[in-house]
Amino acid sequence: MERQQNWWKDSVVYQIYPRSFCDSNGDGIGDINGIRSKLWYLKELGIDVLWISPMYPSPNADNGYDISDYYGVSPDFGTMEDLQALISKCQDCDIRIVFDLVVNHTSDEHPWFLEAKKSRENPYRDYYIWRDGEGDGPPNDLQSNFGGSAWEYSEETGQYYLHFYGKKQPDLNWENEALRKEIYKMMNYWIGLGIGGFRMDVIDMIGKDPDRKIKENGPKLHAYLQEMNRYTLRGKDLLTVGECWGADVKTGRMYSDPERHELSMIFQFEHSSLDKQPGGSRWDLRPLELTELKSVFSKWQTGLDGCGWNSLFWNNHDLPRIVSRWGDDGKYRIESAKMLATLLHGMKGTPYIYQGEEIGMTNVPFCRIEDFPDIETQGHYHALKAEGRSDDEILCSFRAKARDNARTPMQWDNGRNAGFTDGTPWYPVNPNYTEINVRQSLEDPNSIFFYYQALIRLRKEHPALVHGTYQLLYPEDRNVYAYTRTLGDSQLLVVCNFYREPAGFLWHGKGEVILSNYPQDRIRDLECVKLRPYEAVIYRTQIEGGNAQ
Ligand code: GLC
Ligand code: CA
Repeated sequence: MERQQNWWKDSVVYQIYPRSFCDSNGDGIGDINGIRSKLWYLKELGIDVLWISPMYPSPNADNGYDISDYYGVSPDFGTMEDLQALISKCQDCDIRIVFDLVVNHTSDEHPWFLEAKKSRENPYRDYYIWRDGEGDGPPNDLQSNFGGSAWEYSEETGQYYLHFYGKKQPDLNWENEALRKEIYKMMNYWIGLGIGGFRMDVIDMIGKDPDRKIKENGPKLHAYLQEMNRYTLRGKDLLTVGECWGADVKTGRMYSDPERHELSMIFQFEHSSLDKQPGGSRWDLRPLELTELKSVFSKWQTGLDGCGWNSLFWNNHDLPRIVSRWGDDGKYRIESAKMLATLLHGMKGTPYIYQGEEIGMTNVPFCRIEDFPDIETQGHYHALKAEGRSDDEILCSFRAKARDNARTPMQWDNGRNAGFTDGTPWYPVNPNYTEINVRQSLEDPNSIFFYYQALIRLRKEHPALVHGTYQLLYPEDRNVYAYTRTLGDSQLLVVCNFYREPAGFLWHGKGEVILSNYPQDRIRDLECVKLRPYEAVIYRTQIEGGNAQ
């Protein structure tokens, strides 16, 4: 098949968290054959690419983000043959698979680390980061992202190793050239097996400098990415997306400017911190101000225009469900989920959908701290307790923001275990599966699912949605998010009422309704539009002085 250059710009990506997607053999854990059995569903939705969270062998301290063999498949998920069958079936139906590349750290059970910790002279020693302690304690006060010190003492050799995540996730030393070459070799192995690219886990941390306490955006980061590109990606037109919590627009351009040969795009998280108290942690909740969201998104939209590329996402396996976070998961669940989808998919960049988002899955009504078993959540629990917070307060934050919310099994139907497994699911199913599930969505032409399907189709039909210039309208309006996308003489206008209160919007001329989450007249006068709760509309509009088709 002829490959279109930069195919990932026109694509929509669907993220699968394999443990929770579909279990084919009744052991309660989602698996590769489960994914294969649902390709028809993903095809029906219309997505072009699957990003699958890690499926490599792993002791599962962090659900697969702690890898013990970069070349294998975890028996939890199946066999290498199963994976090859999935890759080839995806190729048959024109879906590309993007793998998770977790190379900031390995598992402490990876053979490199098992060797490295044996002696200071071991040839693998320098694949990791070791330092002498300072007095009786660790080398310095660097903190792990999962809470507590980032240094762990290793008895065998009397030194500390660095782990910016769990202590079972020792950080790799990218200063070591042999290590870098090993990583490139491994990437080429997977490229050779026919995968379509990589999502690069916390990639902005590989240039770390622990002695100067630099975690993200270290001095050599971009040099490493360019070297990686030369050895692996160059000339192959793969989709690469870096997870970069510490990115700003300037570094966003550096990663994704095609002239620099680094990545296709990054995930940036600036918008994701807008609903926390200034100076506080993500657990210090505060309502979102729409004007701030507009300003962050618009900065990225214009900042990368013509010299980089954005990724567009609300959700992933580390974030709470968007309809519960910034929509309304009660009365207006359907309207608000569609509004949020419109706002995001109307912008310039490659949209990502996280499993279950397309049916409006919600956060989970957990009521005890033990219901949040994730390593990060538990680590933060201990840190918050040490600060003197009460269990009630912590629970309230976890229910709103903990990543456990995103990890409950996919809700396929209203039968036992939501149709996810015949066995006992590894993690409980959200009790609302009786109403919110794929079967119900496929039976209802007005479902969120069919709305996502329409949004995906629109990208294929309107080049302005993919390539058009973004312009924000009414930046000060506190209720309505509206913008245009313009390409040549074709213009689309996206208007979203972000809240449950009715709101007003005015523009000049007429608009032809292309998509909306409420019934609409096909042609509307835009002089004075009244928007219903969470109403969203995409119009085709007349450019002044131009000819709209
Ligand atoms: C990324 C992953 C997250 C994981 C962490 C450590 O943020 O998305 O799930 O825990 O990296 O690998
Ligand atoms: Ca299974």
